[in-house]
Amino acid sequence: MRLVRQAGDERGRVGQGVLSVEGLELRALAEAVGTPVYVYSTAHVRAQYAALDAALAPVPHRIHYSVKANGNLAILALLRSLGAGVDIVSSGELVRARAVGFAGSDVVFSGVGKTREEMRAALAAGVGLLNVESEEELDTLAEVARAEGRTAPIGIRVNPEVTVDTHPYTATGSKGKKFGVPHDEVEALALRAARTKGLRLRGIAMHVGSQIVDVAPFAAGLERLLDIVRRLRAGGVTTLEVLDIGGGLGIRYRESDRPLDVAAYAAAVVPQVRSSGLFLAVEPGRFLVGNAGVLLTRVLYRKKSGGRLIAVIDAGMTDLIRPSHYQAWHEIVVDGAEGRPHVCTDVVGPICESGDFFALDRDLPALEQGDLLVVRGTGAYGFVMTSTYNARPRPPEVLVDGDRFAVVRDRELPDAMLAGEHAAPEWHAAAAAVAT
Ligand code: LLP
Repeated sequence: MRLVRQAGDERGRVGQGVLSVEGLELRALAEAVGTPVYVYSTAHVRAQYAALDAALAPVPHRIHYSVKANGNLAILALLRSLGAGVDIVSSGELVRARAVGFAGSDVVFSGVGKTREEMRAALAAGVGLLNVESEEELDTLAEVARAEGRTAPIGIRVNPEVTVDTHPYTATGSKGKKFGVPHDEVEALALRAARTKGLRLRGIAMHVGSQIVDVAPFAAGLERLLDIVRRLRAGGVTTLEVLDIGGGLGIRYRESDRPLDVAAYAAAVVPQVRSSGLFLAVEPGRFLVGNAGVLLTRVLYRKKSGGRLIAVIDAGMTDLIRPSHYQAWHEIVVDGAEGRPHVCTDVVGPICESGDFFALDRDLPALEQGDLLVVRGTGAYGFVMTSTYNARPRPPEVLVDGDRFAVVRDRELPDAMLAGEHAAPEWHAAAAAVAT
């Protein structure tokens, strides 16, 4: 993402002056669309996709974009145009993917808690791979598939029990986590799956966690998967086609961060995948869209409290929850603040929660009322994690392409937020509720 200012990194440029995304001045965009607003760069998504695709080129592979990172239809359509498939975790995400033309076969369906309805929807859509995460899920899926007269193409998601250096909430592949089947139980379950009517065992999968910048956990997890593949083949399984190694590729949030080195990632996984003769599936989300997005917000008021300088902005934890939920650090750049002295500032939202902040004790140019702030690295797990707490309408989303922009989601309207609620309850007898 090209934030035009001085020296930059792969996220674009930062420094002094008027801020732009690609050829578009953010100041003008904020005037036109209002704040808060999410802004995404198509060029950044394209560049990230191309970099990963090229790095994995030595083996047959597909990039299944993880819809949960940013499910905006325009982003999905963009990724589809680049050749991506998708990784989904709910039938809601399936509907989104289908709406922009993804075929069922483009879809990998992961998730620990798929309902029978979701399984039916996935089978009806012809989803390419359903990654199963427990024995009970496997039995349920087989039952649903048989009842529908279909065969479910499945993968077993392995918990490879590798240690990753990330926030505890985003580590998924370590011992005792709810995700996947413990690696030492996979063989027995997979052999059973291979013999079960209604199932076709197509793949072995993992996802070790999110925002991982070292390649070691990917390599270690993959080694576990390959060990399982060898044992299954020895046990007579001949249907395996896919190794799904998940997402989790880490990005740079601040200048001093070391992002995942894509070449090193490819070097760690390509030879192992090649030796297996299997097709490689990856499920990146953040890597493709994280630094494609910024959140624009304005300073409403400044105040002092207990010796602290506080700037109240027009966006809050309802618009971007990562700082309060994961203590995530997002760079904040102030438009047109060159030459101002720097002061230590708390940047807080308008929500009635003390945990509603974007930054505490942040070194920033002295803020003024009306200043436009650019919160970087918010293209992934930004809009998708918004809520309407405090009855706050969700912000719009804008896509930039060169010097053009398009509003790809309208700002939610307070009146529209009342839809589906019933102030005057339409009561039913208990028996009627049971019948529905
Ligand atoms: N595949 C599976 C099975 C996943 O569970 C996830 C993310 C991904 C792929 C994509 O991971 P990525 O490449 O984006 O790291 N809300 C958190 C991140 C949660 C990630 C959950 N699973 C955050 O804001 O950091």
